[in-house]
Parts: sequence; structure tokens; C-alpha cells
Amino acid sequence: MLILGLEASNDIIIILLLLSLVLLLFYILSYKFLRYFLFLFDAEKIHKISFIFLKLLFSIPSSLSFWKHFFTTKNKSLERTVFGLNFDNPVGLAAGFDKDAEIFDGLDTFGFGFVEIGTVTPLAQDGNPKPRLFRLKKDHAVINRMGFNNDGVEAVVSRLRRKKSNIIIGGNIGKNKLTPNDKAINDYEICFEKLFNYVDYFVVNVSSPNTPGLRELQDKEPLTKLLKRLQEINIDKYKPKPILLKIAPDLTNSQLDDIIQIIDETGLEGVVATNTTINRDNLITTNEDVKNIGNGGLSGKPLKDRSTEVIKYLSEKSNSSFSIIGVGGISSANDAKEKLDAGADLVQIYTGFIYEGPSLVKKINLDLIKNN
Ligand SMILES: Cc1cc2nc3c(=O)[nH]c(=O)nc-3n(C[C@H](O)[C@H](O)[C@H](O)COP(=O)(O)O)c2cc1C
Repeated sequence: MLILGLEASNDIIIILLLLSLVLLLFYILSYKFLRYFLFLFDAEKIHKISFIFLKLLFSIPSSLSFWKHFFTTKNKSLERTVFGLNFDNPVGLAAGFDKDAEIFDGLDTFGFGFVEIGTVTPLAQDGNPKPRLFRLKKDHAVINRMGFNNDGVEAVVSRLRRKKSNIIIGGNIGKNKLTPNDKAINDYEICFEKLFNYVDYFVVNVSSPNTPGLRELQDKEPLTKLLKRLQEINIDKYKPKPILLKIAPDLTNSQLDDIIQIIDETGLEGVVATNTTINRDNLITTNEDVKNIGNGGLSGKPLKDRSTEVIKYLSEKSNSSFSIIGVGGISSANDAKEKLDAGADLVQIYTGFIYEGPSLVKKINLDLIKNN
């Protein structure tokens, strides 16, 4: 029976291996074909299934170097030193994809120079009711109102402890939905302390539109208080970590001026610009369809120009006195170049990764080598 059981499990492994091989060939030969199939199903379900598939793929060590060969590029000209960290290349995976630090170790297989995990909150929480993730195919965009669904900081730390790769990890931190804003500092402190030994840099997220009241923390007074407190804790450490602030694309120029002043005052290392937008202008998707989806943050192509504008404004007005990670609507090498030309030191992708597939990272890096 035991032998029969073993044979059966061997068969399953072989079938799974073949299946992953076939799917990966589709990835490489035609992600568009695979996308057509994937986009027939509910967006969040597909995200979950893709995770199971990726976990399976990343658990086969010998296959990792094989796929790495297809998806990664190494070149001296891609290397960057930003906020004291040495990046192999400037293209990262944005927060929200690997919220719970489940697959970060394998993600350098796809050529990412860094991965931002989170947003992590002190306690685990379910997030908003489903459905909460919607594709706007005609716009190459996504609307999400996930609401910081995550396993909580303890679970995330227990996974980060087992890190095997050298990939740079950013820890994106937030507050629990039930924590009132006047107690928010406490939540950020808990996440900061618990993640400190396991991430390379921090991102303070006060810009998600999906946690009620969160964006009010971007106001001058509460934001200064929050960042000063985190810096106090940081400076007391033997080796402080870079802290960045993630901002919304919906801020006015005068609010951006405040942000520059606050960064200067608190000595933060930089800004992640930008999060998703609540703006719904100039979409190809009909007003009625957009209305039916309801609230949430819009990401992808329609966000590209505004996010570049914010990066340019911050970079020019601050005389590049802090680092900028540019994110929002990057779906081609040209889009990434546009962000870097506007003043970004590094870039991140999320929605473009869903629409264009994993080869996007290599495309961007090859283009950067060519234009160097
Ligand atoms: C489904 C989804 C979940 C996200 N979750 C988070 C999150 O938890 N924390 C965060 O800072 N940003 C989150 N983001 C925002 C992205 O990190 C990024 O800033 C934004 O999507 C713009 O980039 P893109 O146009 O390349 O997607 C999320 C985005 C999406 C699409």
C-alpha cells in the first residue's frame, strides 16, 4: 500500500511538473494567450490560483535556475545604489502583490531587483467584502478595494525569517481598519519594530483609498508626528533603515509642497510615488460599468501620466534631495524610462505585470542597457 501510495504521489508530482512546464511555455511564447484564458475568471480567484502555481514552481529548486535564465538580465549598467542599498537593477514589484510575504524568495526568478511586501498591519484582517478586485480590460487598468487584507505582522515575520535569496525586501506598513487615526502611530510602531530585522527598507503607507480615514494621515500635522516617531525609533537602532513615504496621486501641489517640507524635517530617505487614484477621468470603460464597480483605487495605464507628473514635481521642487520610487501605470520599457527621466531612482510595477506578464521586467531592463 505504501509503495502504491508513493507511486501515486510520484505520478501527481510528474503531472504537476508537466503542467507547470506547459503553462510556463505559454508564459514565454504567448502571455497574451494565457491572459485571455485567465481573464475569463474572477480577478481575485486568478490571483490566488497564480500564487499556488508560483509557489509550486518556486518549490522546485532545479527549475528555478532554468526559468531565471529566461526572465532575468544581469548587467553592470543596471546596478544602482539608492538610499544606501545596492540594487542589481531598478525594477521592483510594487506593494500589494505579495502582501503576506509568501513568494518573495522566488520572485527574483522573474528578474525583479527588489520586492515590496505588505501592506502589513499589526493584526491579521480580512479586508473588504468580495468582490473587491476588478479589471478594466479596455483601459489596461484595475480597480481594487482590498482594504489591507493580510495575515498580520507576526505571520509575515515568520515567513521572512526563512528568507533564502538575496533579493532586497521593502516592508510596507499600515494600520488596522479598527484602529482610530489618533492611535495609528501605535500600529505603525508595532509593524516597524517587528519587521525591523527582516526588511531592507520601510514604506509608510498613508495613501490607500480603501481604509476609511487613512488618507487623512497625509495631513501635515499627523504625518509629521507619525514620521518623527518612526525616525526616533529608527535612529536609536544600531543600524537605522531607510524609511520612505508612499503618497497618493490625488494630492494637490500645495500638499506636495508640504510633503517635501515634512521629508526634509523628518530626514526620511524618500517617497514612493504613487499609490492608486480615486480619479475616474478619461476612461474607455463606460461610465455605467465604472459606476457599477464602485469605490476603490484605480491602477494601470490611466494612472501613468498623473504619477509621472507627481514624480517630476517632487524631483524638481526638492532639487532631488531625497530618493523617489516611481510607480503607476508602467506597462512598457518606455513607461519605465519616462518615470526615470522624470526623476525616479527606481521603478515598481503591479498592474503592468498582470497585463503584460513576467517578461515585462526583462524588457525594461534590456531597454535600459541599450539606452545606457
Ligand atoms: C490589487 C492591488 C492591491 C494593492 N495593494 C496595495 C497595498 O497593500 N499597499 C500599497 O502600498 N499599495 C498597494 N497597491 C498599489 C500598488 O502598489 C501601486 O502603487 C499601484 O497599483 C500603481 O501601480 P501600477 O499602476 O503599476 O499598478 C495595490 C494595487 C493593486 C492593483
